[in-house]
Amino acid sequence: MKEQQLKELMTVMTLEDKIFQLLQLLGSFYQDTPDLVTGPKAKLGINDDAIKNAGSILNVRGADKIKAIQKSYLENSHSKIPLLFMADIINGFETIFPVPIGLGATWNPEIVKKSAAIAAKEAAVSGVHITFSPMVDLVRDPRWGRVMESTGEDAYLNSAFAKAFVQGYQGTNELLTEDNIVACVKHFAAYGAPEGGREYNTVDMSERTLREYYLPAYKAALEAGAKMVMTSFNVVDGVPATGNKWLNRDILRNEWDFNGILISDYAAIKELIDHGVAEDENAAAKMALEAGVDIDMMTSIYANHLLDVINKFPEIEDDLNESVYRVLQLKNELGLFEDPYRSANSLKEKELHLSTEHRQTAREVVSESLVLLKNDNQVLPLKSNQTIALIGPYADSTSLSGSWSFSSNQESTVTLKKAFEEYLDEENLFIATGSKVVETEFLESSLGNYFSPEIDMQIDEEKELKKAVEVAEKADVLVIAVGEHYLQSGEGGSRANIIIPQVQKNLIQALAKLGKPMVGVIFSGRPLDLREEVSQFDGLVQAWFPGTEGGHGIADILFGTANPSGRLSMSFPYDVGQIPVHYNEFSTGRPYQQSNHSKRYTSKYVDIPNKPLFPFGYGLSYTDFSYTNFELNKEILTQEDRLTASIDITNKGTVKGKETVQLYIHDNIGSVTRPIKELKGFKQVELEPNETITVTFEIEEKILRFYNRDMEFISEPGEFEVMIGPNSEINEKKIFYLKDK
Ligand code: BGC
Repeated sequence: MKEQQLKELMTVMTLEDKIFQLLQLLGSFYQDTPDLVTGPKAKLGINDDAIKNAGSILNVRGADKIKAIQKSYLENSHSKIPLLFMADIINGFETIFPVPIGLGATWNPEIVKKSAAIAAKEAAVSGVHITFSPMVDLVRDPRWGRVMESTGEDAYLNSAFAKAFVQGYQGTNELLTEDNIVACVKHFAAYGAPEGGREYNTVDMSERTLREYYLPAYKAALEAGAKMVMTSFNVVDGVPATGNKWLNRDILRNEWDFNGILISDYAAIKELIDHGVAEDENAAAKMALEAGVDIDMMTSIYANHLLDVINKFPEIEDDLNESVYRVLQLKNELGLFEDPYRSANSLKEKELHLSTEHRQTAREVVSESLVLLKNDNQVLPLKSNQTIALIGPYADSTSLSGSWSFSSNQESTVTLKKAFEEYLDEENLFIATGSKVVETEFLESSLGNYFSPEIDMQIDEEKELKKAVEVAEKADVLVIAVGEHYLQSGEGGSRANIIIPQVQKNLIQALAKLGKPMVGVIFSGRPLDLREEVSQFDGLVQAWFPGTEGGHGIADILFGTANPSGRLSMSFPYDVGQIPVHYNEFSTGRPYQQSNHSKRYTSKYVDIPNKPLFPFGYGLSYTDFSYTNFELNKEILTQEDRLTASIDITNKGTVKGKETVQLYIHDNIGSVTRPIKELKGFKQVELEPNETITVTFEIEEKILRFYNRDMEFISEPGEFEVMIGPNSEINEKKIFYLKDK
């Protein structure tokens, strides 16, 4: 449709038509939901007219289902403007990839882009138009369950992934193709910093911290073309994001020139009342619309109250018209006026979903996402002549996809057992479950009415533990697959104690008594406190929730078909008492090292170290890399030119391997304190044994900018340190000076 026609359409729409365009409802309102009237409809307080005319729907999937809903909608709605279908496609659609914290550990934006493109293709043929992804919230607190959906603690790395996700979903051209879906970046803003790591809790930070660390990844997603943004549940400087004009109009629309749709998070407009900033539903409707929120996800606030608000405050109609026009524009960009069914195609679903090609990519992504945390005595890779006992509640589990996977087909998940059987002869492999994932009482008490027996593992615990020990006795090496329950992370999955559940710790202890070499494969949606496991295991592999091809990707690493290259994108704490613990901290006036004060009066704990158990950027390989000949091509950088930092990387081992070379910078003196290190670049290089490669990084003035004392985003001339190494704990430095203008 031409722009002119869209504008004409606006002129024939009634005020009600327009308001309903801004309403988004769950798919259950359009399917044969048995208790619709007494259940969802009553809870939401929504009438049939609104349901018949809502502008978009969330979380339905399937070409046939979506086509049927669209068809009946077009027959029954007043304005006959096609519906938008949105869904949470977080780490894959049918072919499930590792959860985002695992994708972050690849340090490979290209492969993440590829995974997002596959998710888009699979979702598009199932009728989905928009995904509520990427979540680019920066995270520093692993107690928060949703760190599972983030790519980690660093603004630079998160920005690289934000771009990769958006380009994967939407493609790199302005125009969307039939294989693309629209990306909705979330949650704007700073949702990743709830106090105490408790879900939906208050966020409170300085504008400097917000702008410097939390905002860049949202901005990067928009620069990559993301056409939608979702608000967050939290307050920002006391004002809930969903009613926050400063965030949504001043920053998002005016500073960043964003012209796409801003959608509220689920029920967030109504929650303005619970936050205590809106006295009633009318006030909430007015506040959200004035703040620039276009679509109301799953409340009746806009639908039931905007008419009244506009009657009382006629000037608000302009905001309404703006919002509706944005919705129509996106429908038009997706081609829905020409073809309301767009790419939905049940034949193509069969062809594309879980195709061999998609699975193969997923398998590669899994092995790139695994992080080898420990490998004493070269216990890994496993040797073909060894007898292996594969033990643990994750040994033969298909619950490998995390809490956002709605894949209809759990049987398509490759378990570790299945993958091990492809690597080993029957007589060399013993298997036992050993324990439940988590105590039933925990599931019951923490999940409330969400708890169903299917998410509990039904086993005879005593018998299983005994069997595990018997099986272990027969083996040369024990591979123990343990971790948290998938519902212990994700939304609503905050934990105060981020340990492996006690039932599994009991299993590990029983097996450790045998004194055999032990390899731990850890499944989790967050960095766990692994201090105890580090002392018990000879080898440790962090496997996250790896998705459909989990078993294969992990086995490829354990048996050495693939060499581990994953690096942590979030620090693993030594103890929860350290949280937040992140690499880019400030030095403080009394740093633990290099202070004139006696040790007692420096910034430290008296009972635990300051450093995390495993730092940001960390991960081992089956080979060794050396870093030599670190050089800067000059000492003085002017405002216009570039400086080249170079280093030689040599593969000193006997197998091919991939190294992630990381560049960090420290601004020694600033008008405000600067972090002790900031990631400013990284490159992955793959080297054959004995091969050497020179890796170079270009440093220019613009990467040295920050918010100065007057909140201007500029660089300040003076001395800088450059560090290049395999993780954030490197200390070898070179100095350069940025010259004044
Ligand atoms: C989550 C969002 C999600 C939305 C729709 C909310 O509870 O915070 O991330 O996109 O639900 O499912």
